[in-house]
Amino acid sequence: MPVNTIIQGDSLEVLKTFESESVDCVITSPPYFALRSYLPKDHPDKKKEIGSENSMQEHIEVLMKIFKELKRVLKPSGSFWLNYGDSYGTGSGAGSREGTKQATNKGSNYYEEEGKPQQIGFEKSLLMLPERIALALIDDGWILRQKICWAKQVYFHKDKMTKGSAMPTSVKDRFNTTFEYLYHFSKNNSGSEWYHYGNEPNKEKFPQKWRVWNTLPEIFRTHCWQKKDIPQKYLWAFMNLDYYF
Ligand SMILES: C[S@@+](CC[C@H](N)C(=O)[O-])C[C@H]1O[C@@H](n2cnc3c(N)ncnc32)[C@H](O)[C@@H]1O
Repeated sequence: MPVNTIIQGDSLEVLKTFESESVDCVITSPPYFALRSYLPKDHPDKKKEIGSENSMQEHIEVLMKIFKELKRVLKPSGSFWLNYGDSYGTGSGAGSREGTKQATNKGSNYYEEEGKPQQIGFEKSLLMLPERIALALIDDGWILRQKICWAKQVYFHKDKMTKGSAMPTSVKDRFNTTFEYLYHFSKNNSGSEWYHYGNEPNKEKFPQKWRVWNTLPEIFRTHCWQKKDIPQKYLWAFMNLDYYF
C-alpha cells in the first residue's frame, strides 16, 4: 500500500480487503458505546455505525469482529493501540459521560439524540467498558503490554498549578474524570519494536524519560513547535518501523 493514503469506508469491510500481516501499527479510537451519533438518521450507512448497538455485549461483539481482522492484517512485530474511555450507566439510556473525550463533542447521549428508548441499566455505576473490551481482547489471544493513563489534567505539586484541561462536570456526588485509557497490545511475545521499549539493548533508542506518556506533548513543544529537528533517538520512541505518530 502506498504511504500517506487515506482509505474511507466501513472499517470491517475495508479491513477485509487488506493483505494478512501487512500493517505495522494500528491506532484507533472507536466510538464509545451509546454516546454519540455521527451520521444523520437517513444516511445509508447509519446501521453500520459503531456505538449504536442495543447492548454493551452487542457493542463488544461488533468491536471484536473488527479487532479479529486487525489481528489478521497486523504483522507479527506490529502494535495495536486502543483508546477507549469509560462511561456511566443510567436508568434509561447511557449518560453521565462527562470527563470522557467524546463528551467534548456535540451530543452527549446517542439514544436521546436518536429518540430511541434504551435501558442500559447499572444506574450510577461505571460500566467498565474499557476493561471489558481489554479482557475480551486478552481472551482472544492478544498480549496486553500496557495500560497507559492519558491524563488530561494534572496537578503539578512543585509548580502548584494544574496543567491541561478536562471537561467540567455538574455532578456533585463524585469526582470529575480527567483521564482515559490507552491500551497497547502486541500480537506475540517477541519481535515487536515497541515490545522491547523497556529492555537494556534499546536504552539509547528509548531513553527512560521518553517512555512516559505525559512527556510526549513536551517533546513536541520543545522540538516541533520551535521548528527544531527532532533528534532521531526521540523519534524512535514514536516509531514502529515505518509508522510514527
Ligand atoms: C471517536 S471518533 C475517532 C476520531 C478520529 N480518531 C479522529 O481523531 O479524528 C470515531 C469515528 O469512527 C467513525 N465510525 C463509526 N462507525 C464506523 C464504522 N463502522 N467504520 C468506520 N468508521 C466508523 C465515526 O464516524 C467517527 O468518525
